[in-house]
Amino acid sequence: MSNKRGSISEKDLVLFGGEKFIKGFQGKEKPKIGVEEFLELADTWGYSASTIAKIKEIIEKEEVPSPHLARYYNPRPSKVKQLEEYAKKLFGVEYALVVNSGTSALYCAYVGCGIGPCDEVIVPGYTFIATAAAVVGCRAIPVIAEVDDSLTIDPEDVKRKITPRTKAIVPVHMAGNCSNMDAIMKIAKKYNLMIIEDNAQACGGRYKGRYLGTIGHVGCFSLSSYKIVGAGEGGLVLTSDEKIYLRAISYHDTAACWRPDRYAKERFPGELFCGQNYRMSELEGSVILVQLRKMEERVKRYNTNMRRVLSRVKKFRKVMPRQSNDIYGDVGYCLIFFAESSELAGKLAEALQAEGVPTGARGTRMARDWHIYAYWDHILEKKTVTPEGCPFTCPYYKGKLPEYSPDMCPKTLDLINRALFMYISEWWTEEDCINVARAINKVFSVFCS
Ligand SMILES: Cc1ncc(COP(=O)(O)O)c(C=O)c1O
Repeated sequence: MSNKRGSISEKDLVLFGGEKFIKGFQGKEKPKIGVEEFLELADTWGYSASTIAKIKEIIEKEEVPSPHLARYYNPRPSKVKQLEEYAKKLFGVEYALVVNSGTSALYCAYVGCGIGPCDEVIVPGYTFIATAAAVVGCRAIPVIAEVDDSLTIDPEDVKRKITPRTKAIVPVHMAGNCSNMDAIMKIAKKYNLMIIEDNAQACGGRYKGRYLGTIGHVGCFSLSSYKIVGAGEGGLVLTSDEKIYLRAISYHDTAACWRPDRYAKERFPGELFCGQNYRMSELEGSVILVQLRKMEERVKRYNTNMRRVLSRVKKFRKVMPRQSNDIYGDVGYCLIFFAESSELAGKLAEALQAEGVPTGARGTRMARDWHIYAYWDHILEKKTVTPEGCPFTCPYYKGKLPEYSPDMCPKTLDLINRALFMYISEWWTEEDCINVARAINKVFSVFCS
């Protein structure tokens, strides 16, 4: 390789015809993610030691290659991509974007709709705090509206809260039940507003035959463990509006992996801006894909059982079922009644629970709950990430800030405090449902007739 004096010349380099220096490495590569990682996952489900040993034996024989668990640049067909394709077909929309949480889905939808400084967004006073917090995160002002007897946003109060700065309304389909979408879409048309459906709690629910999350301009879903379709964490954005989709996908991945050439210059004005990393991993994507395939069957079982119970509950003076905007479209996992008072709601819940009907009620306990606006301290006290207080102090905002207070939506508080939440099982048989209805009638007839 070297000349007489031991020095190396250009021709010794492989590039110029020399001999290759490194012909191989002794260290043998092992998959970055291999047997141990698979077993750790299996451990999550709590398999017995003997089952784990069998699984280990099988995967060792298979010589598991290192799986690529990111959705982009995946050598295998991406599960997250398959999930998006499946969601598009199932829900009948042009675009589906899978993200890593329901909160991320809300952010993408808000940014997708162009919500920002100087805008007001009307949200219901009964929803998970993320619906309102993401408005602040987008540097806009949340305006809190009452809910009606369906526990979803009250269209009459929405009308009262519209100002020249209102950009969007967020109907939230709470506890499986749809909002009054006809009334909301009518308002949107009249005032030229965007409708962003927060469908975190009613995946698979419908309104007059149409899937929730596909009626407004954009729909947001949470796909977390607690939801009808979900794994660990996840979210979904549905829209048929190309501009909303492109802005949402751009925001969900500031690294622009979703573009055909991520480093290419902007292909059209507005394609690129500073966003986040809300990408979902293949692990979650695989589980959620399977879950989504089961959605319709699950919802059918829940809705059937909810109606089986409800149709057998007699009428009583001091307790009323929650108003439904479409009983056949309700997902059906939660049957809600309103008692005459919060004291009565507490007593009924205790008695129902004792009879074996899974029931919850706030009653007079007044426990803190992130689903009730009165406990949204971050918003009521205008807490922001830096002391400058943007968006509440933003000079672009020309309106009069809403006067937030824990008692600003008295109707909402009254309804929630009097509500009884009965949790329906999709697995109950018809006989189970009959027995649940009998137990409800038994308790109601003692306290409510
Ligand atoms: C109505 C509503 N919106 C948004 C979210 C936020 O979803 P995630 O927890 O997946 O971020 C939730 C979660 O429970 C919710 O109930």
